[in-house]
Order: sequence, then C-alpha cells, then structure tokens
Amino acid sequence: MLLEKGQLVAIPTETVYGLAGNALDPMAVAAIFETKKRPSFDPLIIHVASIDEAATYCSGFPEPLRKLASVFWPGPLTLLLPKTSKIPDLVTSGLDRVAIRVPSHPQTLALLQSLKFPLAAPSANPFGYISPTTPEHVNAQLGGFIPMILDGGPCKVGLESTIVGMEGDDVIVYRLGGLEIDAIESIVGKVKLQDHSSSNPQAPGLLESHYAPAKPFILGDLNKLIPLYASQGKSFGVLSFQHFSSEVPIENQIRLCQGGDLKEAAANLFAAMRRLDSMNIEFILAELAPDYGLGKAINDRLKRASANRG
Ligand code: TXA
Ligand code: MG
Repeated sequence: MLLEKGQLVAIPTETVYGLAGNALDPMAVAAIFETKKRPSFDPLIIHVASIDEAATYCSGFPEPLRKLASVFWPGPLTLLLPKTSKIPDLVTSGLDRVAIRVPSHPQTLALLQSLKFPLAAPSANPFGYISPTTPEHVNAQLGGFIPMILDGGPCKVGLESTIVGMEGDDVIVYRLGGLEIDAIESIVGKVKLQDHSSSNPQAPGLLESHYAPAKPFILGDLNKLIPLYASQGKSFGVLSFQHFSSEVPIENQIRLCQGGDLKEAAANLFAAMRRLDSMNIEFILAELAPDYGLGKAINDRLKRASANRG
C-alpha cells in the first residue's frame, strides 16, 4: 500500500488531520517537509499504536511521562522522549528527543496496528496556516499533492495535542492543546508551562505567528471593536465565544459554542477560522474564551492567529 511504498496519506486523528509518512524512511519524511513547505528545523511527531511500541523508539521513559502515557494514551498528548538511532535525525531536526503519541481515532489506530513502522505526521496544512479538522480542509489545500486522504469525519477534539516533556525532575508543557493542564497535574503534580515563542523555540510550532488565517485577525473586546469598525463602514467577520451583535450581518458572525461549553468551542475553532477566512470580508474580529481548562489552549491559538506577521 501507499505508506509502505514511501508515499504520503492524510490521516484522521481526534485532534487534527495529519500528513503521514513512514517515520523510519528518510525519503518519506523529506516528502512531508516538502509537501507542507515546512522548514526543516521544525521536527515531526511520530504516531504509534501503543506505549510498548513507543518504548521501542526511546532510550528511556521517565516515570512521570510513563504515568501520563498510561492514563491518557490513546489521546491528545504528545511526549518528548530521548530517541534511539532508529528514528532518522530528519524527524527530530537533529534534537535528541523524539515527540511521540498514540492517537485516539479508530481508523488510524487500526492502521497503526497493521503497519510495521510508526507514522510521522504533522498537521496536514501548509506551514503556518490553520490546522485541518475535516477531510475537506485537507483536500482544499493539499488535495492536489497527496495520493490519498483517509476520511475519518470531523475531528472530535479540534485542537492539536498537548506537548509534554521533562527537564531534570520538572514536567514541562511545551504546547497547550487538547489535553488540559489540570488533567496532567492530577497525575504528576504541578507542571511548568514553557510555551513562550522565540526564534529558536523548543517546540517550533510555537513560533509566535502560527495557526493563522490569511486575513488580518484582530483580537479584543468585541463590545468596543464592533462599533468602532462598523462606524467606519468596514466589512468584517466576527468570531466570538458567545457574544452576538445586532450590528453585524448574521452570516458574518460565528459563535464557537451555545452554552459556554469549551469542548464544543475547541472542536469548532479551526473550521470557524477557515470559514471566516474564505468570506468576502476585509478582516476578522475575535474575542478570547474564558482562561481556564481548554479555554487556555483556545486562547493560545487565537493569540497566535492574531500575532503580527512580518
Ligand atoms: O495533535 C497533534 O499533535 C497533530 C496530530 C496530527 O497528531 N500533529 C501536530 O503536528 O500538531 P505539528 O507538526 O503540526 O506540530 C508538532 C509540534 C511542532 O510545534 C514541533 O515543533 C513540536 O511538535 N515537536 C516535534 N518534535 C519535537 C521535538 N523532538 N522536540 C520539541 N518539539 C517537537
Ligand atoms: Mg501544525
């Protein structure tokens, strides 16, 4: 089949769709970077079927991370573990840790169980753009460049995995994501958050401008922003958590959830950003979600979407 021949296939996961290739085949891995137009300093996550399989690609498995794996895999958690030489350096961009996760999606889990190699898979979007949460999103941008998209329906979580590793005895969260910090802390105690951006970040997906729509994306208090721009006669769309404005045409507004449910908001976020990006409007106004639970990861993505692109 395609993956065994070194070709790429888009795969569904519970977080976002991935652009998958044989992680042990440097040519397949190079094709992933090429197809995504991803800089080679930004390493890839490998996907495996089980904790035992993950352990075969690492030279150690610190106890706190093993505990997290046993509770949250399969699920939206990626662990940074010391790699063995089985993993090509291109996968990790030369870093000595490899990012590994067991995704929770029945089709992809079955696929991983049937393969003799792990799948390297970044989100199936051009570098820097919004991650895809439906097969249609993948098709819209990468359809012409890959031989197959495995249709697993819309992603249930809708935000990328939470990335966790250790430095000394500390458990560090490098990327906020679909697994909440509170859930992680309930297993391993207090963690440190190290998700600030820099030009040489530990997890380069944390470049400040990322997950970004093409249209200008302005984040703030909608009660002030909407009247301000409406009075200037501008055409804009609104991405809100719950806010609804009578000053904006209804078709230009997307509310992420009805009753304040953060899970629902997370699952809707990227599709909503894409829909607004495709509308005939000049820019997008948005507001933050409440800053707890999944709201923290939603807000992280909203802030990156609004970061200045130079
Ligand atoms: O939910 C997800 O994690 C999705 C699905 C497809 O699994 N994948 C995903 O991959 O979001 P990607 O490549 O878009 O983001 C992976 C992030 C990047 O920010 C990358 O820098 C970081 O993981 N990463 C990968 N390997 C790493 C490593 N060895 N050390 C530090 N960061 C790493
Ligand atoms: Mg990505």
